[in-house]
Amino acid sequence: MAWFRRYSTWLSLVVAVFALFGPASSVKHENFKTCDQSGFCRRNRAYADHVDTTGNSWASPYALDPKTVKAGSGRLTGTILKTVNQDKPVVELPLLIQFPEPGVARITIDEARRQKGDIELRHGSQCRKERYNEVSSWAMVGQPKGDEEMQYETRGKETVVLYGTGKKYKAIIKHEPFSIDFVRDEQVHVKINGKGLLNYEHWRPKVEREKPAEEGKQEGEEVKQDEQAKEDLKKREEEDENKWSWWDESFGGNTDTKPKGPESVALDVTFPEYEHVYGIPGHAGPLSLKETRGASGGYNDPYRLYNTDVFEYEMDSPMTLYGAIPLMYAQRKNSAVGIFWMNAAETWIDIVKEKQSSNPLSLGIGSKLNTRTHWISESGLIDLVVFMGPEPKDIIQQYTALTGKPQLPQTFSIGYHQCRWNYVSDEDVKDVDKKMSRYSIPYDVIWLDIEYSDSKKYFTWDSHSFPDPIGMEKHLDVSQRKLVVIIDPHIKNEGGYAVSEQLKSQNLAVKNKDNDIYDGWCWPGSSNWIDCFNPAARKWYNALYTYKSFTGTSPNVFLWNDMNEPSVFNGPETTMPKDNLHHGNWEHRDVHNLNGLTFHNATYEALLARDSPPKRPFVLTRSYYSGSQRVGAMWTGDNQASWPHLAASIPMLLSMNIAGFPFAGADVGAGAFYPFFRGHAHIDSRRREPYLAGSPYTQIITQAIRLRYQLLPAFYTAFHTAHTYGYPIMRPNWYVHPDDEAGFALENQFYLGDTGLLAAPVLTEGAESVDVYLPSGYTYYDYFTYTPHVGSGKTVTIPAPLDKIPLLMQAGHIIPRKDRPRRSTGLMKWDPYTLLIVLGGEGKAVGELYVDDGESFDYQSGAYIHRRFEFEGGKLTSKALANPGAGRKVAREYVKSMKDVVVERVVIVNAPKNWEGGKHVSVTEEGGKERKVELQWFEGNDGGVAWAVVKNPRVAVGVEWGIQF
Ligand SMILES: *[C@@H]1O[C@H](CO)[C@@H](O)[C@H](O)[C@H]1NC(C)=O
Repeated sequence: MAWFRRYSTWLSLVVAVFALFGPASSVKHENFKTCDQSGFCRRNRAYADHVDTTGNSWASPYALDPKTVKAGSGRLTGTILKTVNQDKPVVELPLLIQFPEPGVARITIDEARRQKGDIELRHGSQCRKERYNEVSSWAMVGQPKGDEEMQYETRGKETVVLYGTGKKYKAIIKHEPFSIDFVRDEQVHVKINGKGLLNYEHWRPKVEREKPAEEGKQEGEEVKQDEQAKEDLKKREEEDENKWSWWDESFGGNTDTKPKGPESVALDVTFPEYEHVYGIPGHAGPLSLKETRGASGGYNDPYRLYNTDVFEYEMDSPMTLYGAIPLMYAQRKNSAVGIFWMNAAETWIDIVKEKQSSNPLSLGIGSKLNTRTHWISESGLIDLVVFMGPEPKDIIQQYTALTGKPQLPQTFSIGYHQCRWNYVSDEDVKDVDKKMSRYSIPYDVIWLDIEYSDSKKYFTWDSHSFPDPIGMEKHLDVSQRKLVVIIDPHIKNEGGYAVSEQLKSQNLAVKNKDNDIYDGWCWPGSSNWIDCFNPAARKWYNALYTYKSFTGTSPNVFLWNDMNEPSVFNGPETTMPKDNLHHGNWEHRDVHNLNGLTFHNATYEALLARDSPPKRPFVLTRSYYSGSQRVGAMWTGDNQASWPHLAASIPMLLSMNIAGFPFAGADVGAGAFYPFFRGHAHIDSRRREPYLAGSPYTQIITQAIRLRYQLLPAFYTAFHTAHTYGYPIMRPNWYVHPDDEAGFALENQFYLGDTGLLAAPVLTEGAESVDVYLPSGYTYYDYFTYTPHVGSGKTVTIPAPLDKIPLLMQAGHIIPRKDRPRRSTGLMKWDPYTLLIVLGGEGKAVGELYVDDGESFDYQSGAYIHRRFEFEGGKLTSKALANPGAGRKVAREYVKSMKDVVVERVVIVNAPKNWEGGKHVSVTEEGGKERKVELQWFEGNDGGVAWAVVKNPRVAVGVEWGIQF
């Protein structure tokens, strides 16, 4: 039954496959902390509760000293003073506000170390005595442009900054208590510390038995409190004293020594009149984020970001997963804003939706919800970027201007990937490869999990099972197919294993709190971890990938980085102790969420160095942070082959896509519409290669994979758009239609790039149809039958028998395809194109095609073809989109190499009735004569509209041409 169910999942597709993990078991909850079990999270929630109970009389103890405010060349500086209490000195918090891009504000709050000896660290501690301030050096790229137009003025109790193009944004900085209102169009859209939850746990000398709730109590002391609130606070303090310590903390038998004591940072960000917030992947929950403080239908715990190996994670949960992107959008009708919390320590985010405090003039009419968020990190700086929109695409464009654009992948890597833990031998790999060909199932990459190596010693081969890896790779190369092998960051601790010996002797591994090489347990048993924060370690690691060093690899071998959270089987919460030390004596606590990125990045750089001239690396990662999109793909980790996991994969991938990391997939049936498309299976599961499904499933799966290959030109164009602007490939309804509130919570359907393709997979067992929401004012056609559906802000029911994927096309688009089935993407390189024109009401349509060699970096020198197709007034034209490098030799040669790649077919959906009976169209090509080509017209069937075909217009894809109908 489960067997059949997995296949039907495939069939109902978007979605594929013969994935994964066997009988439903689930995550071990007790292995992972709740907020209550995490001292700093609990303290900051208690602080928020205290502020709430105190109500309007709460006075936040943070004030910006107006005398310190200075500004110039796109930055403003000042000092925030924290009053601790009467008999202790104030704490100075340097404030820096930068305007790195027009319309973008970055607020950094550090802690001054004025006097030496201010911070007495625990005796013997090795860690660095300052706050971690290097997140941006990993997460951000390049030199920001800077906002030249920025201007400021201090008037009385506030400093007002005007910024952005035409000074259309305003930041009103209130001095006491410190807060910032961000204004656009005379309305406040983002409020920083509006609720007064800013909390900066300043460093202090270690005092035994000090009370953790000191701040809440003492800072609020001057404020009147009612008796009940006092009672509650007292009770909480007692509990705190019993259970919590600032100086060490135990969980699950592990003790975290905290050499720097309490050092958390927290802040509230309110979005007035915004009801929906999105982002902060990865979590397995709804796209529109839920409330987290016990409201009905919401969660009790905050969303957590602490990269962890959460095997068979639970659905509909704020629990942490493998990666963290602390980017959040708030969306209301026709307006989006966003924030990026640049901190790599363990982070929790509370979300509360509250009725706006009643405005006496509005008489309760049109009362809206405000979304209030509370960001809490264990250590590091407050470093917050505010994006003012007004459209979601502005936010993602600006966010990726700061953190880097997604990589443009090699074409092969957007084909289908066949994976299993494990293909057991080189003969097994060749056998699967032959069978895929025999069954005419396209695929590009076959994967090897950990078992290929000699006893999990990475960079070696098991010589019994894989005696001839090069022969295996040659075999794959005949069909231009590739091999991916896994390399994890844990290195088996074993004498005689050269990699281990070098790692240790060259001092390149992560250290424990005593500054000795850290030893933990992972796949190989006792292991050490490469410290990729260390430039010397990266340099050494880089050299391990040369063909000479990693014997048995050829140029068609690519990489998979798993377990890079890092996963440590015997560590706290299955990861590293927080008091471990990295390069520069930073604690693991400070850098944890960046760890996966540093390893992924090092592998990318290693592949880049491996080939000359360099090819675009392909590296799949499980753990990620902001910036990981620059170096590869991610997947959502170890899920189960179940319908709920399938349904959850869509909001999860949509969240990745809007967070600047679109090259994302899920193994719950790798989906034919997921940007990263892989079928994977666990070691204990039966073989699930698609040809094993049997009739009719094998045929149906084959059709689904072929559909993906047919649409590869559209996918690759969408990848190029993502690479250029950061725009998502899978796009949620609210992103595409930000004016349509009814679609803001939709998460089970999505658009593919700018193509107008709308996929709505079957997500429930046994369903024979799906309900698709269609916004009003747009017409859609079924991809297969051309049946029209007119959008009216309601759902329509689309039939979805097993062999049909619910897929619609929005009118007005032109979709590029390649219709000839082949074994791999490489073999399709010179194939001709089909253009699918979906005519809108006024007989218009537009579309784009981006093509390059699909593997090298020559596109950066202009070696590409980028066309815009337009249908208007009965004429289809192909025009070049700007190509600054077009004059260069490499660019000219590329276009020349493509001269025989033509459009072999133009299909027009919703073809006018007056073409009935057929006619001729006239084709004009650059420098060529006018030609007549036959046009055939077809009456629609199955409820579909009429359509027409121009057969073989033979226009080259890289040049100017027109077809007059
Ligand atoms: C990888 O990390 C190094 C070191 O921080 C950095 O110089 C490089 O730009 C990163 N690579 C990419 C592609 O982001």
